[in-house]
Amino acid sequence: RTRLERWSTLEDAVELIRHSRRIIVLSGAGISTSCGIPDFRSSTGLYANLQNEGKFDLDDPQQMFDIVYFREKPEVFYSFAKQIYPSNFIPSQCHRWIKMLDDKGYLLRNYTQNIDTLESLAGVERVLQCHGSFKTASCLRCKTRVPGQNIEPYIMSQKVPYCTVCKSKRAEEVELRRKIKAQTQKKSGNGRAKIAWEGDDDSSEEEESEWGGGEPGIMKPDITFFGQALDSEFDECLFKDREEVDLLVIIGTSLKVAPVSEVLTHIPHSVPQININLTPVHHVHPDICLLGDADSIVTYLSERLGWEIPPPAVIPK
Ligand code: OAD
Ligand code: ZN
Repeated sequence: RTRLERWSTLEDAVELIRHSRRIIVLSGAGISTSCGIPDFRSSTGLYANLQNEGKFDLDDPQQMFDIVYFREKPEVFYSFAKQIYPSNFIPSQCHRWIKMLDDKGYLLRNYTQNIDTLESLAGVERVLQCHGSFKTASCLRCKTRVPGQNIEPYIMSQKVPYCTVCKSKRAEEVELRRKIKAQTQKKSGNGRAKIAWEGDDDSSEEEESEWGGGEPGIMKPDITFFGQALDSEFDECLFKDREEVDLLVIIGTSLKVAPVSEVLTHIPHSVPQININLTPVHHVHPDICLLGDADSIVTYLSERLGWEIPPPAVIPK
């Protein structure tokens, strides 16, 4: 039997949710649009805005989140990052619906692609931020990881933050080089200094130091860019969860970005799938498609289930 013959109606969706106990919710930008955060690929989304504004030096709007481009021109991302930095947003009905599933013990895990951290703000505990967040930032060079707050002033003032660990190593090395040069000068040209920074005029005659020379690394928020691997936690969770999941609910994602879009194929065929989205997602074939605004749909489902969505934990000022 095809999926469509098993379950297909809104009634079926209500009953599937009622009788499931280990639900995976796979969510995307569509659950945060009602909070005032644009999604990526809609006509009013971030990529269309970037394209229309044309104010950044991009061939393709997705370059804004491309690691190769970032390494080359970090200033472009930092002139924009402020716009997507989580600020005073209030979780939507959807976030709170997920929280409700979590409270009831029905949620196996929420795999979210969103970096706005609204799931956590809504109190969802069993959430995996597949594309990372601004919570931490790492040096592209020495990999030192720091709390995200450390780079917040740079994001707000649209400046590129550099790694302080690299900077201090560099300073140590400059000092060491200075000492060695002074010593070799004393020895009247005997035994040349062996440390060089990239770009030093006389570096061809000198071998590289332990640190390797060069500039301090650029700090990048730990959000996953195109060309970067997801955290291994994603694979680890999926590996476990696929054995346990009894219902997949996909909300507000175009399912265009792998490997999150491939979650569907990793889950046993016997597990029912419900897709809630404003627009049809043509390349997937869930059992039940609920087309419309996600907040309205989850509110309706909850009413039918007789379950109450918790109120927002954060009250607007
Ligand atoms: P997309 O913008 O690709 O898809 C969002 C989907 O949500 C679209 O299909 C919209 O129709 C739908 N949608 C919008 N508002 C809705 C609403 N009120 N109710 C229901 N559905 C609604 O965003 P994602 O699929 O989340 O990655 O994008 C995936 C990844 O691509 C993002 O995590 C981001 C991006 O590049 C990185 O930045 C690494
Ligand atoms: Zn560093």
